Amino acid sequence: MAAAVTSRRPYHIIVFGATGFTGRFVVDEVARCAAEKPAGGPVKWAVAGRSRRRLEETLEQAAERLSMPELRTDTEIIVADVSIEESLAVMCQQGVVVLNCVGPYRFYGEPVVKACIENGAHYVDISGEPQFLERMQLEYHTKASDKGVYVIGSCGFDSIPADLGILYTRRHFKGTLTAVESFLNISSGPEGLCGHDATWQSAVYGFADSGSLRQLRRKFGHKPLPVVGAKVQKRGFVFFSKEIEQYVIPFIGSDPSVVKRTQRFLYEEEQQLPVQYSAYVGVGGLISVVKLFCGGLFFWFMVKFGLGRKLLTTFPSFFSFGMFSKAGPTIKQIEDTCFSLTFFGEGYSEDTDPSQGRPNAKICTQVIGAEPGYVATVSTMVQSAVTLLNELHSLPRRGGVYTPGAAFYKTTLIDRLHNHGIKFSVRDHQ
Ligand SMILES: NC(=O)c1ccc[n+]([C@@H]2O[C@H](COP(=O)([O-])OP(=O)(O)OC[C@H]3O[C@@H](n4cnc5c(N)ncnc54)[C@H](OP(=O)(O)O)[C@@H]3O)[C@@H](O)[C@H]2O)c1
Repeated sequence: MAAAVTSRRPYHIIVFGATGFTGRFVVDEVARCAAEKPAGGPVKWAVAGRSRRRLEETLEQAAERLSMPELRTDTEIIVADVSIEESLAVMCQQGVVVLNCVGPYRFYGEPVVKACIENGAHYVDISGEPQFLERMQLEYHTKASDKGVYVIGSCGFDSIPADLGILYTRRHFKGTLTAVESFLNISSGPEGLCGHDATWQSAVYGFADSGSLRQLRRKFGHKPLPVVGAKVQKRGFVFFSKEIEQYVIPFIGSDPSVVKRTQRFLYEEEQQLPVQYSAYVGVGGLISVVKLFCGGLFFWFMVKFGLGRKLLTTFPSFFSFGMFSKAGPTIKQIEDTCFSLTFFGEGYSEDTDPSQGRPNAKICTQVIGAEPGYVATVSTMVQSAVTLLNELHSLPRRGGVYTPGAAFYKTTLIDRLHNHGIKFSVRDHQ
């Protein structure tokens, strides 16, 4: 590892929330990375969480899964609880980067961000919650920058494939890329898809509180980004996509928010023309559209009331039609699932002025990978940390709160991801 550890800050990486559903996958991935013995020297790492017993169990299970008995004895344990400030300070003083897997972030994230900044540890999370991510930027960017600490949220499936996918598309476009539409397709095996309860909770509370996002955005006082080239017309709420040959709806995750923040950063800091972005997700045939529409209306109604939220979060499996559960996906469900995110970009060829006429050039790119929620997410999170540790000099300025695209656009993260199962490619455009 290029980043140096010292006797007072002995770990390159601390996995906080290592006992959680996602945390356990992150532990496996960090253990595998450390075992690869990277050229820059060994990776020193520790696990952290609020229960020593559960952390020991986690290491025990990881040792068995990975056939790495040394994990039981050689991995340090740090006990830290989000509600005990001093415990977070002690944790953050010991690591170069903290991988925060404790969510929902709207409830647990802020004290960890604050402790990282105050105690000089870089911070990476996998939040897909725009309210949390944007509020951290509003309230902590200057503090983080003053301390030379990088706080990089949304380094999971939300929203690395979309955010870096746009950077990759622009890099391969010959001319001025002005607009991109992305289409997410998740395919699963016979047992279907499933997500873990914490993600469901994040969604329930996020939708319940969607109004606060508008207020938060007003506080930034941003001027609208300029529209370069022809303005992209909004498509309907549901339409049949020729691109991925199924019905699609707008993607309501954090990708559009993260991509827009990256585009603003690149425009303001790097004078790059912003790309208009719309995200869609495939939902299958007409019957799925009807089911989704009824389920969505019911969900929208329920999240508005305290009792509705209580019922939704107590019975995730029932109210999500099995899409989320307290047990999370089975190994078989995870193994049988994969994603593709296809980008259709348009713009102006090298010899054309983007302020004149219609776009005259197109590009199609794709990001593909294994199961998004846990397999792809841990790859993107761990490779983000590895990039931060090895290429700190290529990150912007001295520190601050950044999106992945803003933090990593000058680094080799896309290549690293490519080598860890998340493939970026240029496709033939029909
Ligand atoms: N971006 C993406 O694509 C993506 C993918 C997957 C997950 N996520 C997000 O990642 C987060 C975690 O999800 P998950 O399914 O892994 O959740 P989880 O299984 O519920 O894990 C939560 C973790 O937080 C710990 N925790 C809870 N309260 C704590 C406290 N007061 N102090 C210290 N630790 C505490 C838990 O520790 P105990 O074991 O001691 O209870 C556990 O380790 C969620 O916000 C989820 O939305 C994002």
